[in-house]
Amino acid sequence: MAGETARAPRPAESAVDFARDVVDGLSKPRKSLSCRFFYDARGSRLFEIITRLPDYYPTRAEAAILAANAARMIEDAREDAALVEFGSGSSRKTEILLEQAPALGAYAPIDVSDHALEDASRRLAKLFPRLAVRPIVADFCRPIRLPAEISGRRRIGFFPGSTIGNFTPAEAVGLLRSMRGALSPGGRLIVGVDLKKDVDRLLRAYNDATGVTAAFNLNLLGRINRELDGGLDLGAFDHEAVYDEREGRIEMRLVSRKDQAASIVGREFHFRRGEAIHTENSYKYTIEQFRRTARSAGWTPRRVWTDDERLFSVHELVAP
Ligand SMILES: C[S@@+](CC[C@H](N)C(=O)[O-])C[C@H]1O[C@@H](n2cnc3c(N)ncnc32)[C@H](O)[C@@H]1O
Repeated sequence: MAGETARAPRPAESAVDFARDVVDGLSKPRKSLSCRFFYDARGSRLFEIITRLPDYYPTRAEAAILAANAARMIEDAREDAALVEFGSGSSRKTEILLEQAPALGAYAPIDVSDHALEDASRRLAKLFPRLAVRPIVADFCRPIRLPAEISGRRRIGFFPGSTIGNFTPAEAVGLLRSMRGALSPGGRLIVGVDLKKDVDRLLRAYNDATGVTAAFNLNLLGRINRELDGGLDLGAFDHEAVYDEREGRIEMRLVSRKDQAASIVGREFHFRRGEAIHTENSYKYTIEQFRRTARSAGWTPRRVWTDDERLFSVHELVAP
């Protein structure tokens, strides 16, 4: 089966999930939407553009760390092993690891975005014809059933992009614990984590002058209009990204420019002028803070790599 790409199965409940999350989030006194719905086809394309913006340092810094250390990170990737990636998106960074792992048996990218998974799987199958690529459309926050071809192998987890930063520290512990369950016994996880740094540098990364991050944030409202029969006026909301020093996180929001109302799945929602819809958290860690978080989830932190400017970190966690 190596060299073939299995088509990613699309879970039937995704539209229902989206509608439920939107109705629940917009009914709260402090409105919010879940960041996992950013990544429809348009959102995934916009995120790829963000990763190439001059001020968006995380992708470049993490790719540089991987390029410098991939051979050591993946030294145990033999035929009997599978690489399991959580929130794989375009899988561009994965290529850096795969180039150093010619004997690896299988690769299972997991993502909620079937478009991103299909594009990435097709590309990787061409680039690495010996590798069995097995995409899985799933929410990694829920228990994941890995196909036998993957669960029958030793599993190396990969969780780049500082996606872990989208979860509160308590949620991050729960997520890392469930990943340990999916990768054990003998599991190992390579996880990318954005570091605390100068606030101006952080704010520039989430407020680019070209407006791509704003378009990415507003696309969540566009997706509601397209998929949930929404009547939101995208021109009546502003993108905002602020750093909460106490929480150690960037918060992204969409702020209503005026008093307005919109219908979504047949229900009416009201937005006051200046009222914010919270759309994403991006927690920043010190190296020691993240190692503590990983220990709380039952992992033993081992090696850690950073870039020259210490903007970003990549951690190796092993199941004891
Ligand atoms: C910040 S991007 C990172 C993409 C890629 N790993 C990288 O490092 O460039 C987050 C990715 O995780 C996916 N994602 C977010 N929440 C998810 C969830 N709960 N389950 C599965 N995938 C998720 C998104 O669709 C997106 O592709």
